[in-house]
Amino acid sequence: MTDRIGIVTGGGDSPGLNTVIRSVVKAAALRGWETIGFEFSFEGMLEPPSYRLLEYQMMDSLLFRGGTVLGTRNSGVFSAKRGHGDVRIVPPELIAEAKSTFDEMGLMALVCVGGDGSLTIAQQLFEAGVPLVGVPKTIDNDLDATAVTFGFDSAVSCAVDALDRLSTTGESHRRVMVLEVMGRYSGWIATIAGIAGGADVILIPEIPFDMDIVCAKVLEREREGKHHTLVIVAEGAREKGGDYVTTDEGEDDAEEHLGGIGPLVTEEIHRRTGKECRCVVLGHLQRGGSPTAADRQLCTRFGVGAVELIAAELFGYMVALDPPEIVPVLISDAIGRTRTVPPDGELVRTARAVGSSFGAQLPRSQPTS
Ligand code: F6P
Repeated sequence: MTDRIGIVTGGGDSPGLNTVIRSVVKAAALRGWETIGFEFSFEGMLEPPSYRLLEYQMMDSLLFRGGTVLGTRNSGVFSAKRGHGDVRIVPPELIAEAKSTFDEMGLMALVCVGGDGSLTIAQQLFEAGVPLVGVPKTIDNDLDATAVTFGFDSAVSCAVDALDRLSTTGESHRRVMVLEVMGRYSGWIATIAGIAGGADVILIPEIPFDMDIVCAKVLEREREGKHHTLVIVAEGAREKGGDYVTTDEGEDDAEEHLGGIGPLVTEEIHRRTGKECRCVVLGHLQRGGSPTAADRQLCTRFGVGAVELIAAELFGYMVALDPPEIVPVLISDAIGRTRTVPPDGELVRTARAVGSSFGAQLPRSQPTS
């Protein structure tokens, strides 16, 4: 009988998921293994199982195709998280059902591709006896155990493209242009895109902002004869003393939906400075479309690394980037640890050194911005 492995993609989708699937299927096939893909995340492992054979010949077109051909979910019966730091344990009967599907299908290992929530589910499955390995995904780049997650570079590239476009129209109309990007509890997308796209104001969850300082930056630019200002704001950014802005409470079984801070900041800048302002919420454009070259090579390396972990029987581990190497990290050590942007780190210092404001008062040794 041919050796078979399974693969499952979980959580919010991200560019590069298909690239990982391709890499796993190809690397497995070249070892003589078959790969089956469970559909719609871990729910595909429940009775009756929903899966398909992933054939080697069909993999080439997946290299640059966005999304996941297996489908995914970030809500539903398996959802393991709801709010920040809140981990819900998946009911043991669901874990047992998924394990019996795994056993009945005669699989030798499972590859779980996902962010913190999906890897938390994976850890439960592993503890229940499923030999599995993980691949870290999330556009938010908020997993502590890897230098970078896949999907992040593609999201940043989308945000930078948006900033470039907003900059030219903002300049033509002498407007303040606000771009809201994803990033629930960490501001990696906003910070890196803000630096790469030359944002004048960068607002992130790690540095609660003060509207007076944000508006002072807009007015300072006016005085300098720069009549347009580019603001990038992470969905999880909040005012000093304020709370996260949510669009709704989220479905019962899903994480709360953050968002809406962009329009609020836009309105407030207009009210306080009198400047014409416009806001764009980038939303799921960041999660769709083709992965960048950086993500394609990372996904390919992660996929091959996952197959190598299986061959070495290093179950309960996930692949991680520890430049320049792909290394194994225990999933149990990786989950529940959100990686955030250090407020006093080099990235923030660099942005400030070229004049970007984080809307907050700096320590006395540095200029206010
Ligand atoms: O975790 C990734 C993420 O992109 C967050 O930044 C965002 O809040 C969330 O997914 C939105 O997910 P969805 O709209 O699919 O519920």
